[in-house]
Amino acid sequence: MSIRVIAIDGPAASGKSSTAALVARRLEWAHLDSGALYRAITLAALDNLGETGKGKRETWSAQQIVALAEDLPVRLVFVDDVFRPEVAGVDVAQAIRSERVTQRVSEIAAIPEVRHWVNVQQREAVQGHGRGVVVDGRDIGTVVFPDAPLKVFLTASPEERARRRLAERGRGGGSGGSGGGGANDAPELRREAEVLAARDRADSTRAVAPLKAAADAVVLDTTRLSLEQQVQAVVALARERLPG
Ligand code: CDP
Ligand code: CDP
Repeated sequence: MSIRVIAIDGPAASGKSSTAALVARRLEWAHLDSGALYRAITLAALDNLGETGKGKRETWSAQQIVALAEDLPVRLVFVDDVFRPEVAGVDVAQAIRSERVTQRVSEIAAIPEVRHWVNVQQREAVQGHGRGVVVDGRDIGTVVFPDAPLKVFLTASPEERARRRLAERGRGGGSGGSGGGGANDAPELRREAEVLAARDRADSTRAVAPLKAAADAVVLDTTRLSLEQQVQAVVALARERLPG
């Protein structure tokens, strides 16, 4: 029997995690956000291997980072149908969203040994799980689970993705617009779009497992879709491809 994985990949803020979480709930599957593991390792490195701040970046060896992830440990813990990231026994789901983690995560995720370590954790989590798992990331359909029976590649325009990120941070920008600045503030939107574009560039151009759609992925442009519409589209594909 083929593995029961739905792979959801795409650029930053295209809606992968939100979509994966809701699809998993509707199918009564589990959800695994692979980016959370890369973020948790980045957080662990920043907190334990030193951070110089003031624009100067500490560089760490691959061996140092992987040994730290093993020792602390950094891991995924299955709670309420979701694989949650933990560092040294502490839930870091909130802490990994900080700006300092976001700024360094793509650099850590480009290290082949780190990717190998993360892939082992993901495959173990899926293998040890009785039901299906919706996994979201950048290389799930291309590298981690190339045999997944359903692969979805979510996209959205850079402006829309920036707007979503600002809206998440409570900076307005909900559909219809508040008319009072917030994410409708053009310079702020432009800055956010540039930050996202820089991370997408780093993720798409790295040598190992770059961000790209698998040849057999269904590409879904969500720019003009609501979250509910994109969730329904993926659930419909899942029911078609994964009967029973
Ligand atoms: O949620 P957001 O799109 O901001 O990012 P994320 O999914 O939390 O992923 C953070 C970073 O981890 C990405 O920018 C990639 O550098 C890396 N990542 C990866 O390389 N491969 C994955 N499968 C998932 C994330
Ligand atoms: O995981 P990724 O970085 O791709 O995206 P996310 O963390 O799920 O964030 C996407 C944000 O956009 C969430 O706040 C969603 O509620 C929102 N959103 C969406 O995903 N899709 C839409 N069609 C509209 C809003």
